[in-house]
This record gives sequence, structure tokens and C-alpha cells, in this order.
Amino acid sequence: MSGKNYYITTPIYYPSGKLTVGNAYTTVAADAAARLKRMQGYDVMFLTGTDEHGQKIEKRAHEAGMQPKEFVDVMVADIKALWELMNISYDKFIRTTDDYHEKAVQKIYQRLYDQGDIYKHEYEGLYCVECEAFWTDTQAKDGKCPDCGRPVQLAKEESYFFKLSKYVDRLVKYYEEHPEFLQPQSRVNEMLNNFIKPGLKDLCVSRTTFDWGVKLPFDEKHVAYVWVDALSNYITALGYGQEDDSNFKKFWPADVHLVGKDIVRFHAIIWPILLMALDLPLPKTVFGHGWLMLNGDKLSKSKAAGANVIDPVILCDRYGVDAIRYYLLREVPFGADGNFSNELLINRINSDLANDLGNLVSRTTAMADRYFGGKLDAGIEAEAIDEELKALADEVTEKYSSLMEQLLFPNALSEVWRLISRANKYIDETTPWILAKDEDKKLRLNTVLKNLCEAIRVTAILVQPAMPATADKIFALLGVGSDERKWDSLAYSVSGDSCWETKTGAPLFPRIDIEKEMEELLKIMKKDEKAAEKTAKKEEKAGKKEEKKSEPVEGIAQIGIDDFGKVELRVAKVIQCDDVAKSDKLLKLQVDLGYEKRQIVSGIRQWYSAEDMVGKKIIIVANLKPAKLRGEISEGMLLAADSGDDVLVIFAPDNAEPGSRVR
Ligand code: ME8
Ligand code: MG
Repeated sequence: MSGKNYYITTPIYYPSGKLTVGNAYTTVAADAAARLKRMQGYDVMFLTGTDEHGQKIEKRAHEAGMQPKEFVDVMVADIKALWELMNISYDKFIRTTDDYHEKAVQKIYQRLYDQGDIYKHEYEGLYCVECEAFWTDTQAKDGKCPDCGRPVQLAKEESYFFKLSKYVDRLVKYYEEHPEFLQPQSRVNEMLNNFIKPGLKDLCVSRTTFDWGVKLPFDEKHVAYVWVDALSNYITALGYGQEDDSNFKKFWPADVHLVGKDIVRFHAIIWPILLMALDLPLPKTVFGHGWLMLNGDKLSKSKAAGANVIDPVILCDRYGVDAIRYYLLREVPFGADGNFSNELLINRINSDLANDLGNLVSRTTAMADRYFGGKLDAGIEAEAIDEELKALADEVTEKYSSLMEQLLFPNALSEVWRLISRANKYIDETTPWILAKDEDKKLRLNTVLKNLCEAIRVTAILVQPAMPATADKIFALLGVGSDERKWDSLAYSVSGDSCWETKTGAPLFPRIDIEKEMEELLKIMKKDEKAAEKTAKKEEKAGKKEEKKSEPVEGIAQIGIDDFGKVELRVAKVIQCDDVAKSDKLLKLQVDLGYEKRQIVSGIRQWYSAEDMVGKKIIIVANLKPAKLRGEISEGMLLAADSGDDVLVIFAPDNAEPGSRVR
């Protein structure tokens, strides 16, 4: 069996919001590759899943008023439903909250710790919560994350570090000796110039400021860095570090990790080094594809939330799953960035699917039905034009295979469309409707239609990885039996005694009236906007009611301005912030009042992490009698709003001088 195994993975997605058509892009590509390999007789493992730990997910869950596990369960159900809708044929779905995964990650940490590749160290650095990534001062120019542009935070904590630096020379050598490891090739220089040459620092691989993660077995105060947790999925899903590791033995090393360009560095630097430290072989290829953009903006879960017309579920609903799959695979040169727009999509559907493929199939089956009642059997010797069609089919088949092998989906599909165009032209050139008028030409007509059926059969096999449902429909229309659907029977061949029993059916891809459709979409977008406005207003109203409800009507005495003047409110800048060790509710803030520094303890940890607070300006009651909380002195209190179940700290404007009086 060895050599006939194929292991392909998608990234595991953050279940932090609705998946976008950008996420679907990676998964559809992996699915097409997996389907082709299965057709070619490989034993395939196609893995996808969800990346559920970390500060970002914890934060999103709290924003939604849910516990993290409760929150991800809902999100994951949505994700699985989308993959089912889109006909994604994954063999395994891993969740990083799965018990077997968590235990295996602990084993990995323990081993790296035992062998001295993980060590403890005090760390201070810049962190982007959105990307769950550390950055150096030079990388995070102007305090912004170079990946997503959001502000980075200063994170300071005692952490465990992984010795990336120890392995970096081996990695560079590996790049040199394995040009197929990182693709497209341009990504190699990106890694070398942006990350490796400037000096690769050891990686902080544990966090203590939140606990939604895998606990480190040798220090339970720490949770695993979410990227180490996530990357490990590619081996834990196969049983690595578990009793039954037969799939690991069978499928590792992976053939392809398919990832977006934003996460190439994790897969091409951290992951291979982690594997080296574990003494495991490296994946054969990490393929970094480009982004799908909408009007020049990357589609992201947070940004796309309201944009219903590009929600993959709605797209599939309006245009059909296979049209979306085809568009994703065909439109964008794999590796480069590309645009998504409803207009481009509709154009593709009309030209490639309705016109070229759809017409070829409906013209052929209609003629077979009209002239022969759908039964094609007899035939005569091939003419030059038939040989030409066959030669092109052979050429296309060969090119297609090699392009698919390189994951060049658009190129491979455009090869198939050469065959489709040629077959349509063959109809125009052989003019079956003229042959049909002449009883003597009946045999020739039969042969012509058989050649067309054969060209369509080959086409259907070739489009099967991209559009499995469409291929099935075509096979059914042509009456192609299960053996003739197989990769092994791909070779174009029309013999005298071959026969077909065809049927006619509804068009595979109805033409879309683009003007009408664009108007329709505009209406939907306007409706969405209105709905969004309505909810916003409702929320505002609800907020106001809440305010009214909690308005102190009785019980609290009114005070004069002189009484208020006794309360000394001042702006303070948070210069450092730490968890209070003996409590899970308290944060300990070091604040600067301009004229002095002091410590304030506040029970906001459920809503804010230490790094949320560092660098911020807050408002404190500066003349409050000092008090001790859990053994820590607190000299003042900060102002915060009790808002529903949330506590919202009142932040002072950025340009307010520390120490200024608030009245
Ligand atoms: O990064 N076009 O998860 P994720 C193309 N959990 N691809 C896009 C895209 C777009 N507009 N938007 C997102 C993570 N993607 C980690 C992965 S793997 C061990 C851990 C792609 O949900 C993106 O490039 O943020 C990435 O490959 C994938 O979607 C998952 O993104
Ligand atoms: Mg992302």
C-alpha cells in the first residue's frame, strides 16, 4: 500500500464567526485535490477542523455572553453544516477541544520540556490578539500588527520558550535541499528575508493571562500557545502520541498542508522546527495560496458579517454549490490574490457553465434523442476530425493531471475548457442537423454523436473533483456506468460497437439574467442594511430602557456640587498590569498620575486581561482611603460601568494628561 497514500489538510478554522467564501476557498481546493487522488486510487486522508482555544475565542465567547465551550459548539455546528452543504468530503474533522488532542498536545509539551527544548523565561513583547501572534518592535511599526493592522498590546509575563533558534540552520538547509517544501517558491524568500535573516528568536509557547487552552503538564498555571496547540492537530488527528497510531504510521508525513498566505510563516517555520524537535519527518509540501478580496479588502469573518450577498451559504443557495466551487477554483490563479464579486461569479456561470459546458451537454443529448431516440450504437470508421477531437482529449487529460498534481486548479480547469470548446466547435463543423436530413449519413451521424458523448464523458471525469454533483448529473444523462466513470477509464476511445443510452434533462446551469440579478442583490443588500439599522436602534432602545430601569429614583440622596467636589477623580495611565495570584477576579494595575505612581486593585479580570489594560488611560477616585484586597494594597478605585452582565471600564481620551482632574 505504501506510496498510494495521500494526506492533505486545510487549516483548522477559528470558530470565531461565520465562515466566509474566503475560508471556503481553501477547503474547496483541498477537497478537489482529495477527490482526484481518491479517483486515482490513493488511500486518502483529508483533514479539516477547528482551532478552538486561545484568547481571541475566549473574548468572542464573552462578548456573546457565553462560556467558550458553549460558544464554539454553536460555531462548529455551523461550520460542519457549511461543509456538508458544499460537498466537502473530509475524512476527519478535528476539534482542538477534543480530549485526545489535548492529551497529545500535553505529551508533546512534556517531551520538548524534558529534552530541554522548552525553558522558562520572563517575557515582554508585543502581541496581537486577533492573529494570536507575537511581534518585535520593528515588525509592529507604529504599534500596529503587520498582518491585520490592529493595535498590538504589550504583554509581559513569565513564560515558557521553545528553542526555535537552535534549529534554524537546519531549517534553512532544508529549504535549500527541498525546493518542493514551500510553494509557491516566492514564499521561501518571504520567510528568509522577513523572518529568518533578521534573526529568529525563541518562541513564547505558553500564556498565563487567560486559561482557555491546554494546560501545560509541568506547570498548570500555563496554557499552551494556541499556534503550537493548533499546528499539532496535523499529527494528533492521526493518532500521534496515542494508543492507536496506525493512521499516523500510514499517512505521516503529510503530502500537502494547504494554507492561506497569512499563516505560511507558522507552517513553514514553527511547524517544521517543532517536527524536527520531535524527531519527525517534515510534510512534503506547504502550499500558501493567496487571498480572495472584495473590492480590494481581504474577506474576513469579522468584516464580512453583514455582507449577506457574499455569505457562502447564501451564494450556494442562489447559484448552486457547484457553480461556487467552480468559481473558487477557476477564477483566481492559485497562489495569487484574486477578486470576488457577484458580477464576476455570474459572468463565469453564464459563459463557462451555462454556455460552454451546459450547452454542449444539452445540444448533444437533445440531438441523440431527436435523431436516435437516445440510442447510439452502430458507427463507422473515424474521420480526421474525430481523430483531432480524440488527440485534443488525450493532450488535455495529460496536462490536466500534471497541473492538478501541482495544485494549479485554474490552469487545470482551463485545459478542460479547451476540450469543451473543441467539442462545441466539432458540432458546428460536423453539422449533425444536415447529416440528419440524409438517410445515407445516418451511420456518420451516429458516430459524430458518439464522439460527442465520449468527449463529454471524459470532460465529466475531469470536472468531477471540482463539481462532483454536476459530473454525476452528466453521467446519468449519458447513461455512463460506474466503471466508465473511473479515472482508469479516462482514455478517450470510440469504437464501432460501443453504445450509449442517453436521456434529456433540464439545463445543468440555467443562464442568469445579470441585470435582473444585480438589481435583486442590491435589494437584498438594502434590506440587510435596514435590518441592521433596525437592530441597532432596538439595541439602543433596550439600552435606554435598561438605563431607566436602573435610574436611582428613590433611596439615593441628592448631593450638592460641594459634596461632589470632595471626590477627587483623576486621569491615570496604566503602566503595568498583572493578575493577582490568589484570585481569579482581580487585576493589579500600576498607574501613573503624573505627580506620582501607585497601585490599584480592581475586580475586572473576568472582562479585561492584563494586556487589555496596559497603556490605557483610565479614571480613578484618587482620594479613596487605601484598602487591602487579597493581600494587595489598593490606593484608589477605577471607574467602570455595570452594563448588563458586563463591566465596561471608562477609558479617558488618549490625549488626556495623566493626573488631570475629572469633574
Ligand atoms: O488562521 N481568502 O484560522 P482562520 C483566502 N486557526 N483565504 C482566506 C481568506 C480570504 N479572504 N480569509 C481567510 C487560522 N482565509 C488558524 C489556522 S492551522 C494549524 C490554524 C484563510 O480561521 C486563511 O488564509 O483565521 C487561512 O488559511 C484559513 O482561511 C483559516 O483562517
Ligand atoms: Mg485569520
